[in-house]
Amino acid sequence: MEQQVKSKKRVADHGEVFTAEREVNAMLDLVKNETERIESRFLEPACGNGNFLAEILRRKLAVVKRMYGKNPADYEKWSIIALMNIYGVELLNDNAVECRERLYGIWNEAYTAACKKDANDECRRAARFVLEKNILCGNALSLKKVDANGQDTEEPIIFAEWTFIVGSKVKRRDFRLDVLLEENPDQENYSMQLSLFGDTASDADNWMIDPETNKPTPKPIREFEPKDYRRIWEDA
Ligand SMILES: C[S@@+](CC[C@H](N)C(=O)[O-])C[C@H]1O[C@@H](n2cnc3c(N)ncnc32)[C@H](O)[C@@H]1O
Repeated sequence: MEQQVKSKKRVADHGEVFTAEREVNAMLDLVKNETERIESRFLEPACGNGNFLAEILRRKLAVVKRMYGKNPADYEKWSIIALMNIYGVELLNDNAVECRERLYGIWNEAYTAACKKDANDECRRAARFVLEKNILCGNALSLKKVDANGQDTEEPIIFAEWTFIVGSKVKRRDFRLDVLLEENPDQENYSMQLSLFGDTASDADNWMIDPETNKPTPKPIREFEPKDYRRIWEDA
């Protein structure tokens, strides 16, 4: 059985008690359909070394295998999509590192077994890059990144959104987590503010009107040119 406590001090300082596998599965079964949908997005705000995220990834990869296991190119792409939709925040650096390694290990073992001679290091590098961007060391209460001692920095937590647009091309957009978690500004007032004050309106830096829905939506802080998913690591 997995160890649930690393030290008494860590329990006292950070409430670090890992969830046992049986409870993880029972809780994930409450949202079973979502755990088995390759593109469903999960964010765990205090992910520890990844007990929940690891099981979510296993479940998604089982579906990828069932649906695309016979075609290495499709398996590769969909297994990366599964990984791209798993996010975590963790205060303690050693846990965050462990979590990334664990998710990479699960993904790589499944990938290598399914794709055999077609498995390649370029895609492995892309998988590692996704995990670097998706599993972050931060404070889920202040929504700031933390330093190696677990102390808040001034930098907000920023997550990448990965969207496959056509074929093997992915578009990455980076968002501030604090803005994603804000309530939508009231649409009528927001539009009025924008028209009165243009870019000086208080929310104008963080929100924009979606041209398709005409509703306020978080504004990405950075957008990248679409890129083959195996080369996403070219944009830092
Ligand atoms: C009870 S453990 C649960 C870990 C994991 N979710 C699990 O179920 O196995 C809580 C985790 O939250 C982390 N943590 C504590 N305060 C946090 C904060 N403000 N932001 C992010 N993580 C935090 C701890 O380091 C610890 O790994």
